[in-house]
Amino acid sequence: MKVCVVGASGKLGRYMVRHALDRGYEVVGVCRERSVGKLGEFAGRITVVPGATDDREVIRRAVAGCDGVLTVLVPWGVKGYSAGTAQAVMDHAPAAARLVFSCGWHITRDGQDVYGLRFRAFVKIFGRLARLVRAVDINDQVEACRRVFASNTRWTVVRGSDLEEGESQGLPVWSRHVGDPILKSNLTRRVDFALFMVEALVNDELVHEAPAIVGCRTPSARAYAAGLTRPPA
Ligand SMILES: NC(=O)c1ccc[n+]([C@@H]2O[C@H](COP(=O)([O-])OP(=O)(O)OC[C@H]3O[C@@H](n4cnc5c(N)ncnc54)[C@H](OP(=O)(O)O)[C@@H]3O)[C@@H](O)[C@H]2O)c1
Repeated sequence: MKVCVVGASGKLGRYMVRHALDRGYEVVGVCRERSVGKLGEFAGRITVVPGATDDREVIRRAVAGCDGVLTVLVPWGVKGYSAGTAQAVMDHAPAAARLVFSCGWHITRDGQDVYGLRFRAFVKIFGRLARLVRAVDINDQVEACRRVFASNTRWTVVRGSDLEEGESQGLPVWSRHVGDPILKSNLTRRVDFALFMVEALVNDELVHEAPAIVGCRTPSARAYAAGLTRPPA
C-alpha cells in the first residue's frame, strides 16, 4: 500500500505517518519547504515532497501511484488554501485511491448536526476574528468539504472533536451527526484521530461518510457502549 500524507509535518500529519509506517505502508509526505525538518525522525523511511499543499504540481507528483491519500485540511490565510488543497488531491489522485480528509465538527454534510450554544458562539466569534486578521478563513474549509462531498472520488471526511495529546486509547467511535449522545464528551486524543484516518483507508464502510469522532474511552462513548444512552433515531 502506498500512501500520501498531505500536511505531513503537522501534529496530526506526523501521527498519521507513524501509523502508516507501523502498518508497513510506503509513505510520501507533503509539507511546506520550511517544515521539512519536522519530518527528520522519518529520514530514510519516507519520501518527502516539499511545497505548499495547494500547489497542484506538488500534489500531482506526490499522489502519483498512491492507493490512499490522507489530507489535513487547514484553512490558513484567506486565499482558499484548504479548497485548493482538496481540489488538487481530488484532481490528481488515481481514480481508485481512497481519499481521507480531516476537519472539525463544525463541518456539516447534510445540515442535520445539532450544535450547542457554546460551540456555535465559538465558531462564530473565532471565525470572524480570524478572518479579520486574515489568518484563517473557516469558510474555506467549508468550501473544501463541499467540493469533496460533491465529488465522485472514494472519499471520507473525518470530523474531529476537540483534541488532546496523550497516549493512544484505541480507535475512536463515531456517529453521523454531532449532537448524537455518543459524541457528547467532545474529546479525542490526537494520536487516535490519526489512527481513525489511517484505518479509514481500508474500511470501505466509510466511503462517502463524514464520521464525527470521539475518544472510545470518553464518558459518552462508555455510556453508549453500556447501553445507558439511546442510539440516534
Ligand atoms: N486543533 C483542534 O482542536 C482540532 C479540533 C478538531 C479538528 N481539527 C482538525 O484537525 C486537523 C489538524 O489539526 P491540528 O490542530 O492537529 O493541526 P496540525 O496537525 O498541527 O496541522 C497544522 C497544519 O497546518 C499547516 N500550517 C500551519 N501554518 C500554516 C500556514 N501559515 N500556511 C499553510 N499551512 C500551515 C502545518 O504545516 P507546517 O508543519 O508546515 O506548519 C500543518 O500541516 C485539521 O483538519 C483540523 O481542522 C483540529
